[in-house]
Amino acid sequence: MSWWREGVLYQIYPRSFADSDGDGIGDLRGITARLDHLEWLGIDGIWLNPTMPSPNHDWGYDVADYCAVHPDLGTLEDLDELVAEAGKRGIRVLQDLVPNHTSDRHAWFQDALTGRDAAHREHYVWADPRPDGGPPNNWLSVFGGPAWTLHEPTGQYYLHNFLPSQPDLNWWNDAVRDEFDRILRFWYERGIAGFRIDVCHAIVNDRDLRDDPVATEADHPKVYERGLRAEFSMNRPEVHDVLKRWRRLSGDRILVGETYVLDLDQLIPYYGAGEDQLHLAFNFLFVHADLVPAELRGIVEAIEEKLPAGAWPVWTGSNHDAGRLATRWAAGHEDRTRCALLMLLTLRGTPFLYYGDEIGLPEGEVPPERRLDPVPDNRDGGRTPMPWTDDPAPAMWLPLLDASRNVADQRADPGSVLHLVRDLIALRRDRDDLRRGDYETLPAPRGAWVWRRGEATTVAVNLSDAPLTVEARGTVLIATDRSRDGTPFDGALPAWSAVVVDG
Ligand code: NOJ
Ligand code: MG
Repeated sequence: MSWWREGVLYQIYPRSFADSDGDGIGDLRGITARLDHLEWLGIDGIWLNPTMPSPNHDWGYDVADYCAVHPDLGTLEDLDELVAEAGKRGIRVLQDLVPNHTSDRHAWFQDALTGRDAAHREHYVWADPRPDGGPPNNWLSVFGGPAWTLHEPTGQYYLHNFLPSQPDLNWWNDAVRDEFDRILRFWYERGIAGFRIDVCHAIVNDRDLRDDPVATEADHPKVYERGLRAEFSMNRPEVHDVLKRWRRLSGDRILVGETYVLDLDQLIPYYGAGEDQLHLAFNFLFVHADLVPAELRGIVEAIEEKLPAGAWPVWTGSNHDAGRLATRWAAGHEDRTRCALLMLLTLRGTPFLYYGDEIGLPEGEVPPERRLDPVPDNRDGGRTPMPWTDDPAPAMWLPLLDASRNVADQRADPGSVLHLVRDLIALRRDRDDLRRGDYETLPAPRGAWVWRRGEATTVAVNLSDAPLTVEARGTVLIATDRSRDGTPFDGALPAWSAVVVDG
């Protein structure tokens, strides 16, 4: 088995993780200084949100230079040092690759704007106005409004699936494909262990620019809400050729896709035949599901049934877009957060934790005048600084106003969420059943979810307000209520509690 199937990965938002130079912005040296925390926790790999130079209209997801480091975050040498120091602790480093679009400040786009014959014009998607002067088709930006902006000096519209300052690259152009081959190699040569690929499903757009169809009630509610189903603006079958090309080029490095498709039948093909496209494809149906057994179990069972042989699931509850599981799933209740973390760390598949998940961090409060996210559905609350101690840090780029839940206090408390997460990770590491054992749903009363892993490990979760009794018996290995660890399990599950049982 490979490190990324058996291990636990951890997402770091570099601006908010740790600030080494006191300028109010987290940085690469700050991450290096905190690697001991990740080693102590038992993390096998980290994914860094974009570290490249960017005007930060979308906080790094508008890249101005793919082969450099943003001066706020440090230098290429700092990145090399982070990779080397992480390596000494057995931790791999994944970069974030943003191939769908660049910043409008990128040299390619600046050149493309100089005229229809510019050398890099075809790096982007240009189209003539409709006869009435309107945009070429009905595509919508994910961030609102039309996905097209008219560039008056050259008389054509350019495509942007996100902000107007994030022009979409033209993946029908071989020159773009070659550029990205070079970018991948650049980072691999620096020791990067792979990439998380931003809006992986969106990079290829329909060559004929056909209109997206109107969404119906049969679509996921988030798609229906948006009005159009992104069938031609995104999710084109040709994206799989690009993924195969990257997989061939990547050797033993891994590709983790931000596959934001809210339909499992569309998600599965991103794994290709099992071993020729993505290694891991994030499952947003799971992220957006409620913390309700029937919903989560249904998604897990469908993945178990549909994934091709050789493909491997990935489970996550928090990220810099969807926010934090302690808020979204657990509404700030620590017992619910503990259940969710125990679940993530014991399902069959690779868990991704988001910085702060290990202390059950809820979303931070960001007063309206301090908000920085350009998207109306503000995402700042899930991006506030990591509370290492009980000192608030109101002067950081995003304020940390409440540090009452912090790493130092929890480290000193063996009953804390932090110790629960560490002990669950250690249990995974010690127990073949949890790392690689099969998943099987066991019978459970309404409100509970019980599953077996491998030969002799059972997980039982009560996601309800009432005490329940389940059939499983054995010895408690780890319980969300730590006083039960090591005791016989008689099937009793108090409200909002969970156990991993040997038996
Ligand atoms: C997905 C990223 O996770 C999100 O933060 C960003 O705004 C969009 N892609 C556009 O790059
Ligand atoms: Mg700094």
